[in-house]
Amino acid sequence: MKPNNKTTVFDCAIVELPKVHNQSGNITFVEGKKHFPFDIKRIYYLYDVPGGESRGGHAHYDLQQFLVAAGGSFDVQLDDGTVKKTFSLNRPHYALQIVPGIWRELNNFSSGAICLVLASELYQAADYIRDYRQFLALKASQ
Ligand code: TYD
Repeated sequence: MKPNNKTTVFDCAIVELPKVHNQSGNITFVEGKKHFPFDIKRIYYLYDVPGGESRGGHAHYDLQQFLVAAGGSFDVQLDDGTVKKTFSLNRPHYALQIVPGIWRELNNFSSGAICLVLASELYQAADYIRDYRQFLALKASQ
C-alpha cells in the first residue's frame, strides 16, 4: 500500500460549502482547488437506493472524495482499521471529506436520497481495496 495507509478517521471531516440563498431557493457551488484540496476529475451519484440497502464496503489507495447529500439523508461509517466514526449527511451545503486509506460503508438512506461524490481521480478498479481483512492487514503494516 502507498504511504496513504497512515490516514485515520480524524483526517476526515465535514466541511461547509458556499450557499447563496434567496426567496427562490438556494445554490451551492464547488470549485476544485478552491473549496477542495484537489481538482475534481470525476463526479458520480448514488440514487434509487432501496430502503435498508448499504453501499461502499471498500477503501481506496489514492482516491480522495467529498460526499454530499444532494437530496435526502444517509449515514457514512468510516473505519481506519482502529477507530470507527459515523457521520450523518442531510444538508446539500455540507460535504464529508474522505481521505485515501479509509474503509467506508453508507447506509440508512432516506427515500429519494442522492449521494453526490466529487472525486480526485477517474475510475480505476485497481484503486479499490474490497477485502476487509486485506484492508486491516495493509493498515497494520504501516
Ligand atoms: P462501487 O464504487 O463499488 O459502488 P458502491 O461503493 O456505491 O457500492 O461501484 C459499483 C459499480 O459501478 C462497479 O461495478 C464499478 C462501477 N463504477 C464505474 O464504472 N465508474 C465509477 O465511477 C464508479 C463510482 C463505479
